[in-house]
Amino acid sequence: MRSAKDFFRPLAVGAPAPVREVPFRPSRMIHFFDPGNEKMAAKVPSIAPTVDVLLGNLEDAVPADRKEAARAGLVKIARTTDFGDTQLWTRINSLDSPWALDDLLTLGTEVGDRLDVVMVPKVEGAQDIHYVDRLLAQLEAKAGLGRPILVHAILETAAGVANVEEIATASPRMQGMSLGPADLAASRRMKTTRVGGGHPGYLVREDPAPGAEGTPRPTYQQDLWHYTIARMVDACAAGGILPYYGPFGDIKDVTGCEDQFRNAFLLGCVGAWSLHPVQIDIAKRVFSPAPEDVAWARRVIGAMGDGTGAVMIDGKMQDDATYKQCRVVVELADALAA
Ligand code: GLV
Ligand code: MG
Repeated sequence: MRSAKDFFRPLAVGAPAPVREVPFRPSRMIHFFDPGNEKMAAKVPSIAPTVDVLLGNLEDAVPADRKEAARAGLVKIARTTDFGDTQLWTRINSLDSPWALDDLLTLGTEVGDRLDVVMVPKVEGAQDIHYVDRLLAQLEAKAGLGRPILVHAILETAAGVANVEEIATASPRMQGMSLGPADLAASRRMKTTRVGGGHPGYLVREDPAPGAEGTPRPTYQQDLWHYTIARMVDACAAGGILPYYGPFGDIKDVTGCEDQFRNAFLLGCVGAWSLHPVQIDIAKRVFSPAPEDVAWARRVIGAMGDGTGAVMIDGKMQDDATYKQCRVVVELADALAA
């Protein structure tokens, strides 16, 4: 029997002959919308062709008295919209809420054939993924679906971070994982009230220059999320699934957003959430390798022949390991261009 992984394989990073049983599906931006909001729902057909993933959000930001309307709105949109190559995902309510079961039952049976991925919030351990996995298997059987609905976990509780490796490998349905910085900050009792991004108080101060007594010392912001993203990337790479930066809530701060997305991209993430159309282009730019980086990577690969040994290019040493790094860049560029 084919497993869920056969339907969605991450890039075979650095392997000499990458095996991809299905084409890589770009997911540079996971664009959130509220399916119960008629104005937003009306824009879905025009936004769909501009994004890699459209996600109908049923969880946080949808008020308790509009949960049913959001769910019903998503069913209607899924049935009536031509998404083309764009994936349709949903974020269900958390598993300890009164709505999660109905979210899964309704969406699985009514529009399971249109749904690519279910994003599960506040995942604390493998048991949460096992629960969703079994339920989806039953719903797929009932609806006679020919392909599995995949699962994406949000890493946004202290317990989730502690159990990140077991979450990544909890089911062959696992497609990926996103950082959820807002809930994670609350769960950890961090003292930031922002949604992602940096904080002006989390800084390092440069040592004073000799003789510069009394002059203010320059400060540099540190990255609040470095540790979690690095852990998540390792867990995802080891488990063969994809890592993502989550939301960046300060819509007007396009520079801060681009910086956060770029740091995540460099660390190994393949995409981020977009909460506003302005963030779609930022994610597209950041999560597509730059043409000059791709050209350099192709040059190294060309010079390295079978990928073993060492060569000097422009004074820089290249060897088997840099060959593999370059393949990561080129494979991503080729997959996005396909
Ligand atoms: C996202 O869900 C977050 O909590 O940041
Ligand atoms: Mg959250």
